Amino acid sequence: MHLFSIALLGLLWANQALGAAVFAHFILGNAWNYTVAEWKEDMTLAQEAHIDAFALDVGYGDSTTATQAALAFEAANNVSFKLFFSFDYDGGTGAWPQADIIDYLKEYGSNPAHYKYNGKPFVSTFEGPDYASDWKTIKSETNCFFVPDWSSLGAEGAYKAGGGGIVDGLFSWGAWPSGPNDMTNSTDLTYLDLDIPYMMPASPWFYTNLAEYSKNWLWRGDSLWHDRWEMIWDLKPEWVEIITWNDYGESHYIGPIREDALSLMEEGGAPINYIENMPHDGWRELLPFAIDTYVNGNATLINEGVVTWYRPNPSEACGTGGTTGNTVSEGQILYPPGEVAQNKIFYSAMLETPANVSVTVGGKSLGATWVREAVDGVGLYHGAVEYGSATGKVVVTVTRDGETVASIAGESLNATCTDDVSNWNAWVGSNTTSTTKKENTRRDTTLPVKSKHAHTHLHRGHNHFH
Ligand SMILES: *[C@@H]1O[C@H](CO)[C@@H](O)[C@H](O)[C@H]1NC(C)=O
Ligand SMILES: *[C@@H]1O[C@H](CO)[C@@H](O)[C@H](O)[C@H]1NC(C)=O
Ligand SMILES: *[C@@H]1O[C@H](CO)[C@@H](O)[C@H](O)[C@H]1NC(C)=O
Ligand SMILES: *[C@@H]1O[C@H](CO)[C@@H](O)[C@H](O)[C@H]1NC(C)=O
Ligand SMILES: *[C@@H]1O[C@H](CO)[C@@H](O)[C@H](O)[C@H]1NC(C)=O
Ligand SMILES: *[C@@H]1O[C@H](CO)[C@@H](O)[C@H](O)[C@H]1NC(C)=O
Ligand SMILES: *[C@@H]1O[C@H](CO)[C@@H](O)[C@H](O)[C@H]1NC(C)=O
Repeated sequence: MHLFSIALLGLLWANQALGAAVFAHFILGNAWNYTVAEWKEDMTLAQEAHIDAFALDVGYGDSTTATQAALAFEAANNVSFKLFFSFDYDGGTGAWPQADIIDYLKEYGSNPAHYKYNGKPFVSTFEGPDYASDWKTIKSETNCFFVPDWSSLGAEGAYKAGGGGIVDGLFSWGAWPSGPNDMTNSTDLTYLDLDIPYMMPASPWFYTNLAEYSKNWLWRGDSLWHDRWEMIWDLKPEWVEIITWNDYGESHYIGPIREDALSLMEEGGAPINYIENMPHDGWRELLPFAIDTYVNGNATLINEGVVTWYRPNPSEACGTGGTTGNTVSEGQILYPPGEVAQNKIFYSAMLETPANVSVTVGGKSLGATWVREAVDGVGLYHGAVEYGSATGKVVVTVTRDGETVASIAGESLNATCTDDVSNWNAWVGSNTTSTTKKENTRRDTTLPVKSKHAHTHLHRGHNHFH
């Protein structure tokens, strides 16, 4: 009997990650004006996207952390959402003293809204490997399950930090490709090779331009949001953490833009407000299907619909704003930003049977097609089309047998930029309709995009705003 159970467990393990949960990194330092109502709204939106929990990024010395953590847990209990802490060792006034971490975990670890793994309170970090040995004490005092991001040391270095035997799993911050290349799974494979649970990062975009933090670079987003979920389906990591829910400064937010959380644009010295009128909500539309497929190996398509994203300014039209492709702060070779971020319109669709896609700019058709499509017809489709020198209104339409399934009248491509500075952030739009039939589908896609074998470095760009 006992042996049988172990064999069964082994089988389940081989087939499917047992944890299979998806979290979103949430910068608490951007939420100091949040009310319980706003917390609940954000949590409800995350639940609608099938996200399980927020990883609350907290910097040491941020005077609003205690208040906002209390409101967040109150809201989470109210809407049955989950939370855990990601102690940020770089983002505050200094590294976290172990006594303060123990206090937080003693206060919230047993809270019903605290995310648990194997019955233990789950805890993560942003960096802090120099303090690895603190966690021997923290773990013995709090019984936490410890999954830090110590990407600066690489997978093996993180595993062995503090003399080894400290981490229960590892999170990687390597969510973006390096240079003019598409994303690869090479960094993820170094973590999976360790045979401890892996938390895989998924991010849609990266652009930051904050003089106060000496940050001004981009990494390739482009088709990343689609490509990354396919990699997650293939690799089946124990958990996925989306980077991020609300890091506006690095343009990878998938949560709503909140006017009372944007002070960074002024205080961080951004030359233009690159967040205003740049919604990313459409990226969440793909998540229920993508996440269910990761968790169950298949998913039910609830809506049909299309999502599109692109930069509003062609790369050669305006000044770069000093933005580079890649960053010397990560020891990378620099590229012109327009070589890394392509002048393309990207689109993904969730469809129950095949359909055609079209993209027009200023009324002129660009001849868009799918680059990837669902094998059995039902599932995710994706593509991208170069727009050359076209400017004007962007319209993305999905049609089937001459009828419109969904259509987006999007932001214009505009060669005139505010203060002659290109906005390298993405504008995201979506349009969904409910399906007529609801079927289970498998994840398969065809026509793989040709992937270059990029050398993926550590990528841990991060905001420090407290
Ligand atoms: C959530 O908050 C509402 C309004 O304050 C209250 O009526 C409700 O009972 C709360 N629900 C839970 C489960 O705490
Ligand atoms: C990793 O990526 C390579 C190149 O795209 C692919 O051939 C391989 O199957 C991937 N590995 C896994 C385990 O999915
Ligand atoms: C919070 O609100 C105050 C008062 O309106 C505002 O000055 C501040 O910029 C807001 N904080 C954030 C993070 O936006
Ligand atoms: C979908 O996944 C569920 C849960 O793993 C499984 O029971 C079911 O057989 C799967 N269906 C298909 C069509 O693969
Ligand atoms: C481009 O931006 C300029 C300046 O903001 C504006 O006047 C113009 O209408 C815009 N063009 C398009 C096609 O949106
Ligand atoms: C897609 O377009 C082609 C060419 O116009 C047409 O033959 C085909 O029927 C269309 N497919 C669907 C599903 O509408
Ligand atoms: C969504 O697409 C439908 C079908 O084309 C269209 O009638 C509707 O106006 C679109 N909604 C938005 C918000 O663009």
